[in-house]
Amino acid sequence: MADRKKLVAGNWKMNGLRSDGLTLATELARRVRAATGAEQLSCDLLICPPATLLGPVHDAIVGSGIHLGGQDCHPAPKGAFTGDISAEMLADAGCRFVILGHSERRQGHGESDALVREKIGAARRAGLVPIVCVGETLAQRQAREAAAVVVAQLAGSLPERAAGRELIVAYEPVWAIGTGLSASLDDIVAMHAVIRRHLPTEAHILYGGSVNPANAGAILALGDVDGALVGGASLAADSFWAIASSCG
Ligand code: PGA
Repeated sequence: MADRKKLVAGNWKMNGLRSDGLTLATELARRVRAATGAEQLSCDLLICPPATLLGPVHDAIVGSGIHLGGQDCHPAPKGAFTGDISAEMLADAGCRFVILGHSERRQGHGESDALVREKIGAARRAGLVPIVCVGETLAQRQAREAAAVVVAQLAGSLPERAAGRELIVAYEPVWAIGTGLSASLDDIVAMHAVIRRHLPTEAHILYGGSVNPANAGAILALGDVDGALVGGASLAADSFWAIASSCG
């Protein structure tokens, strides 16, 4: 576990105009560059802005060590797919990662495990590391189906041969996203252990769902939690930096 450097990823979702997005990215890059000694982050940082800001954010963070990622991609490399963006385009814009199968895509856009699997293939074709999101709804948790749902999502969406270094899974209980209700530490430990059994040792498992500066330290200290996928709290430099600093 110790050799899996933690990753703290900011998913900006559909937030950020050029001015505030650039201010945020520039400030994070400034903090990374200015940090010395104990202030230096022990984790990797990733920003996933909306597609319109990939270029400007790339320019703001280039050389800082902060990684850039997309929030989704289409399975095809190019073509007549109005409104979509390919993994190759993300790579071309400077991305190294792409979030796939987020519950907001699964629910709002009807994305199936099979489609997520195709998108993972596309990400790999383009040399991107996929961050594959899985997680149960509140009804599924209350019905004690959480583990079965997550295992089924993994089985349906992960490629047969999952090379560890090139794969990240984010456990994001749907009911914890944007609600202020993060999963309990016990539930996170239990689900990450379930997920770990289906992944190679080198693969990272992130937790996501209402991670904030107050709960990040305890969550990131858990075994098999290799980082966090952060939504709301990634939209301000202070809170995102505080979460990243909690990696210890
Ligand atoms: P949240 O979102 O941190 O705002 O709960 C997390 C996510 O959707 O990745």
